[in-house]
Amino acid sequence: MSVANPIRGFREVPLASIRVDSITEFDIHIQTRRDRPPILFRERSLPVTPAVLGMLVDQRHHHIYIPAAQTFEYRRYVGKHIEAILSDRRLPVDAKCEVLYDSAQGLMADILEQPRSKELVQCGQNVVAGTVRFMMQERAALSYLLQLVSYDYYTYTHCVNVCVFSLALAQRSGITDFDTLRLLGEGALLHDVGKSLIDPSVTKCKKGLTEEQWEIMRKHPVYGYQLLTEHGMLHGASLDIVRHHHEKVNGTGYPDGLRGKTIEPLVRISTIADVFDALTTRRTYRDAMASFHALSLMKSEMSRQLDQELLRTFIEMMGNPAK
Ligand SMILES: [Fe+2]
Ligand SMILES: [Fe+2]
Repeated sequence: MSVANPIRGFREVPLASIRVDSITEFDIHIQTRRDRPPILFRERSLPVTPAVLGMLVDQRHHHIYIPAAQTFEYRRYVGKHIEAILSDRRLPVDAKCEVLYDSAQGLMADILEQPRSKELVQCGQNVVAGTVRFMMQERAALSYLLQLVSYDYYTYTHCVNVCVFSLALAQRSGITDFDTLRLLGEGALLHDVGKSLIDPSVTKCKKGLTEEQWEIMRKHPVYGYQLLTEHGMLHGASLDIVRHHHEKVNGTGYPDGLRGKTIEPLVRISTIADVFDALTTRRTYRDAMASFHALSLMKSEMSRQLDQELLRTFIEMMGNPAK
């Protein structure tokens, strides 16, 4: 994945994110040989003509490279064009899903680096709105997105995965209203943003955490909630997810020890997505658990903590994502 294994100084991004006749505020580079760094193909501020784009397609450049220093310009460009990319009938669904997953991951990495940037949070909201509209129009979108889910754990991949799993579970549970799905998506995408405010010696600790470090880590839902409340850009339903995604239906969660139906349904959905992704991704201190094992563990040992009906739907969905 581009964000996790970058070529020094560059970001690899899908070619499908580049729109014909648009003007990019970033330089486009291509890799002509695997053992060489990317070379400049098109300078920024020049239009991407049909001939230019056609040349890249003909030469089978599925990915291009942009200078890492121009990442912000790229994020802004994709944020502006995401709706057009997702509604482009000439692009196959899998290419659109790749643009979506890639840009959401990159964007989330940037948000975690600069959590106080309102502009980045706004880009995140655009990407979520585009995703929800796309998955409502394109039945196959969610199963493609579920296939793209990365098993290497980084906070930014985890946030995007939780967003994808949450939207998939909500839709499978019969939630079809655009605004409800959008609010769920925003809360799920940003649910762990509070981790960016915790000392890296705790969040990046390669061994298991001490009790003292856990105590600090458990503050991330409140930190995230406070930060996003200060931004003033998120709806209360999304903020509720950020604050309460670690609550458990038997009252053993944190930070407020909520219980049963006092935990909102959108929060209960994101909790299941969060637990599943945490179990099925690789950590430095343990291997990823296979989906089947994670689901059985959730069903047996965690059954009193999670919403039973939603968990049943989630298990059924993971067994048959294309339905
Ligand atoms: Fe969390
Ligand atoms: Fe999480």
